[in-house]
Amino acid sequence: MRLALLVLLLAVQDLSTRFAPSRQDSITEEQAKSVCSTELKRVEWTLSESARERFKKATGVDAPARVVVYEGRANITGDGEMHVVVFAIPIAWGKEKATLGVAVAPGARMIGRAKLLDRDPVEFTKQFFGYPYDEASVERPRGDLDALLKKDDKQVRAMLAVKKAMREMVVLDEALAAKMDAGKATVDDVKAITQLFIDAEKAAPDAAFLGGRTKDFGERLAAARVMLETLEKNIKTAKAKDAAAAFRGSCQGCHGGYLGAFRRARGDAGLGNGYFRSDFDLKGDPKLDDAAEEAIAKAVRAAALLAGSK
Ligand code: HEC
Repeated sequence: MRLALLVLLLAVQDLSTRFAPSRQDSITEEQAKSVCSTELKRVEWTLSESARERFKKATGVDAPARVVVYEGRANITGDGEMHVVVFAIPIAWGKEKATLGVAVAPGARMIGRAKLLDRDPVEFTKQFFGYPYDEASVERPRGDLDALLKKDDKQVRAMLAVKKAMREMVVLDEALAAKMDAGKATVDDVKAITQLFIDAEKAAPDAAFLGGRTKDFGERLAAARVMLETLEKNIKTAKAKDAAAAFRGSCQGCHGGYLGAFRRARGDAGLGNGYFRSDFDLKGDPKLDDAAEEAIAKAVRAAALLAGSK
């Protein structure tokens, strides 16, 4: 099915200081097409007073009253008819300058893509491909994580334990899959993953923010752990493939019911719940320093705010 989508292209000045309307025309069609391939037409877009107020409240930065945008058709999210907005935002960190292209599907609350237009693509921006967000993550992106971690807050610890388990597990699981293909997987490879699930399982009873579902969540972790134990036992046998498939089948079921709950809880706890904390929501990139990641994250967030303001 061919989707008719609206693409808007907006150029704004370094968001850490202020918007500069004079740069609005500086974005080329070619740059826009590298974020989402599309036919483009130039239009003017006026932000409402309330949209500007919302933006100012969330970022402390003035949004422009009028912006030059480019409209086109594109298929970014691939999951239904929705508007997509592409922003090209000049960003700066240290002495460096770059332009970030951000494609947002406001209806689906999804970042379609983020890409540095004038530099090598980096891992950090790639992670915004199809990245979901909610209102809370746009309006309240960053709490004081260090202070929170010092507090003896069991719920926060439960959130972090699950997050940590998931992140590390994915890396270990990929390595395991490669080793299995090569016929070289060992019990220890599986055990490392099992341990992550055991750690998460220990923390699960503290996930009180799940309300009546805390127990179910713990049981799902336990079920996945049992599948891993089966894999462990069979790692050198013909049954290993099926056991691994069973474990990997556990992902979807749990994510459907719990990803949103964790994201909301993290937002409420001030931990950041979207795509803004490079050290928490997304993996860092060795090619970028913290200031660069921060600049990118801020610009992506501004794009989401503006997209939701139209
Ligand atoms: C018991 C439930 C459960 C199971 C089973 C589960 N997950 Fe998760 N997973 C979660 C929750 C909850 C989150 C959200 C954590 C958060 O956002 O803080 C998550 C997040 C993730 C993330 C995102 C991590 C990040 O950096 O934001 C990845 C990747 C992931 N899971 C992969 C997997 C894979 C692969 C499997 C199957 C092998 C799996 N998960 C099985 C509950 C589960």
